[in-house]
Amino acid sequence: MDENLVSYAAIFLVIYLITKKVFDKFQKLPPTPFPTLPILGHLYLLRNPGQIHRCLAKVADRYGPVVQLWLGSRRTLLVSSASAAEDCLQHNDIIFANRPRLLGGKIIAYDNTTILWASYGPLWRNHRRIAATEILSVQRLHLLADEVRSLVKRINDESASSQSPTGGNDGVEIKPALVELTYNVMMRMIAGKKMESEEGKRFKMILKELLAIGGAFSAGDFFPFFKYLGLNKRFETRCKAVFLKLDKFFQDLVDEQRGKLVDDGNMKRNNAKKKNLIQVLLGLQETDPAYATDDIIKGLAQILLLTGTETSSSTMEWATTLLLINPDIHDKARKEIDEKVGHDRLIEEQDLQHLPYLHCIINETLRMFPVAPILPPHESSEDCVVGGYNIPKGTMLFLNLWAIHNDPKVWDEPNKFKPERFENVKGDRVGYKFMPFGSGRRACPGENMATRVVGLALGTLIQCFDWESAEEEIDLKETAAVSMWKANPLRAKFKPRKQMIDIISQI
Ligand code: HEM
Ligand SMILES: *[C@@H]1O[C@H](CO)[C@@H](O)[C@H](O)[C@H]1NC(C)=O
Ligand SMILES: *[C@@H]1O[C@H](CO)[C@@H](O)[C@H](O)[C@H]1NC(C)=O
Repeated sequence: MDENLVSYAAIFLVIYLITKKVFDKFQKLPPTPFPTLPILGHLYLLRNPGQIHRCLAKVADRYGPVVQLWLGSRRTLLVSSASAAEDCLQHNDIIFANRPRLLGGKIIAYDNTTILWASYGPLWRNHRRIAATEILSVQRLHLLADEVRSLVKRINDESASSQSPTGGNDGVEIKPALVELTYNVMMRMIAGKKMESEEGKRFKMILKELLAIGGAFSAGDFFPFFKYLGLNKRFETRCKAVFLKLDKFFQDLVDEQRGKLVDDGNMKRNNAKKKNLIQVLLGLQETDPAYATDDIIKGLAQILLLTGTETSSSTMEWATTLLLINPDIHDKARKEIDEKVGHDRLIEEQDLQHLPYLHCIINETLRMFPVAPILPPHESSEDCVVGGYNIPKGTMLFLNLWAIHNDPKVWDEPNKFKPERFENVKGDRVGYKFMPFGSGRRACPGENMATRVVGLALGTLIQCFDWESAEEEIDLKETAAVSMWKANPLRAKFKPRKQMIDIISQI
């Protein structure tokens, strides 16, 4: 009896699998890894949370550059080649310009209305227009130079005090100084002031709690029955608690700026150029109240602070790490700076365009360590074709940028740090092989700002200091959660260069 049942089940399973395979072929759906477990789907492929980009690259090695996955109940398209990426972000750009609806986005991102989580449509377009005009607009340039000087001073002071009287020196951890730089640049742009230390601590605590919840995804996003059974309550409760703190943080900022505008009254009208982002939006609140609600203002400030800080500072830490491991490349960059800028002044923004090798270093860093190794998920709003396969409407897109940037079929010796590979690249010729900021309508609106911040800070550190590693052996282990950062923080020694001592001491 039991045996019969087992063999019936086995026969049924075989028939099911064969018909499903034939059916999928007939519909021209992309290949799907075996097995697709009931309920779980392919979630078992994502066992290693800090290394999802590597797990998914292995799937692509086995099944090809266009693969269909089931993440619980969500149909997901995994894309891992330049040409398939071009299909998604150019030929089907508008179709894939949506984001999936996730619970985290509903709670944290003001009902999916922030620029990162909003669907393609008028609201999102409005956000993008404001981001394009307000992110580091020309009037605010001095602020970056100012913050880079503070960075030099901080590194110099910390290095001096890390030198013990007995001659030992275990160097300084560089990431906190870089994070302070990016926070201050963003905060001054958003609210016209530095992060005060109490405020900074408060924000970092909230951020920690946010990360602890586990990034953007929750089980309820993959298993709809979770919601119906109320199993998602714990996540929702924690998420709401963090949201309330985050919301209060930004409401305080908005209220503060509103108060300032009232205080300044007419004076401000003569002084329009000095407005910060929140003040610009508060101005819009009068002319376009339907758009610029407090929630929208808080949401824009929130998402810019979340996306703009960790990304640039991580990239700088990676670049510093790679240059310490490759001193000849560091020396070549320094030679370029010495020739074009000299020793009589610090690098300025206008110098960046004359430092192509520095830019190659930044590109090569972003190739090896794209801070968003998998693009934040997109979702298709129509049926479309990718790599010759039919992709149904409502498919979530995982684009594995890391896999494309490190593909040995596309890049010669992808594990080697070789900025020279970008030397003869003109304009956008690198195309879809290299797109650390994404591409198309949803591409990063902060690219310009990020390259300036990273370029100026990195260039200035090269110009001002002799570098030396403070570790036996520098490792390149990465960990990726919301973004990809160095698993073990870098420690290095920075000694002011003789030629620069005068300038540094005047900061
Ligand atoms: C090295 C630094 C940075 C890198 C590598 C980076 C990369 C990216 C990537 C890959 C995306 C997703 C594109 C997509 O979904 O297809 C993105 C989106 C975004 N980035 Fe950046 N980014 C960086 C810095 C910044 C900065 C400094 C800001 C703000 C000032 C910023 C603001 C945003 C925003 C708002 C989005 C969402 C855009 C949308 O969904 O429409 N990013 N970024
Ligand atoms: C935001 O996303 C959630 C799904 O997670 C959905 O229930 C809600 O209706 C969405 N809100 C809007 C305004 O689209
Ligand atoms: C760096 O990459 C960007 C694409 O993100 C490209 O437009 C630029 O030309 C590259 N710069 C250099 C110097 O290779």
